[in-house]
Amino acid sequence: MVVIKRSDELATMRRSGRLAAEVRETLCQAVRPGVSLLELDRLAEQQILGAGAIPSFMGYEGYPANICASVNEEVVHGIPSDRRLKDGDIVSIDLGVILDGWHSDTATTVAVGEVRADVARLMQVTETSLQRAIRQAVPGNHLSDISNAVEETVRVHGYGIVRELAGHGIGRQMHEDPMVVNYGPPGQGLVLREGMTLAIEPMINLGSAEIEVDADGWTIRTRDRRPSAHFEHTVAVADEPIVLTVV
Ligand code: MF3
Ligand code: CO
Ligand code: CO
Repeated sequence: MVVIKRSDELATMRRSGRLAAEVRETLCQAVRPGVSLLELDRLAEQQILGAGAIPSFMGYEGYPANICASVNEEVVHGIPSDRRLKDGDIVSIDLGVILDGWHSDTATTVAVGEVRADVARLMQVTETSLQRAIRQAVPGNHLSDISNAVEETVRVHGYGIVRELAGHGIGRQMHEDPMVVNYGPPGQGLVLREGMTLAIEPMINLGSAEIEVDADGWTIRTRDRRPSAHFEHTVAVADEPIVLTVV
């Protein structure tokens, strides 16, 4: 069932999204050679709790941290450790908050110092694919118009689109209907309506689309060990789509 949010509910989700975006920006600023993933996790925890909100990932299906931090060939769901970032790495940071009962979910991939040109391009194209997908989140469009926008943006680059994971509805719960995949033909599936809220999140690999899961049961990495990028916003469907996870 796809839940439509009232305008007062959207206003609360906007506050939730603003907090998530502020935390995301804090973590981006903290990324530099030498910083550890656990240090990023602690910064997020402090800022979220300090704002009177709850880090939604902690304890989610047993997840043991406040953020996901996925380095280089790690796609998503990397568990923060004492690993220190180094020049030339990329790190995908994903975080979620619950504020006054409403979820938001956002992710970004950040360069640590100087990265290879092909990796910088992967990050840039993945972010562009998210922005193009967001433009499709208008009433009357079909759900797969969002999916198709991601696929069409990355296709010419020959990147691998991760198929096993997807975006999702979001609201009172982190994961609601519908599932928002990152590939497929346009004009299919649910007709979008004003007040639907979606987390749109392309996960794009420089090489093959194939992934595998680590022994920790969480960390997803590319099978070919080439890098992967992930960008995510929580968005409200409207004639002018509303990105909730901005400062
Ligand atoms: N935020 C992720 C998503 O984009 C889900 C994280 S699951 C967790 O849907 F267990 F790591 F929190
Ligand atoms: Co997320
Ligand atoms: Co999400």
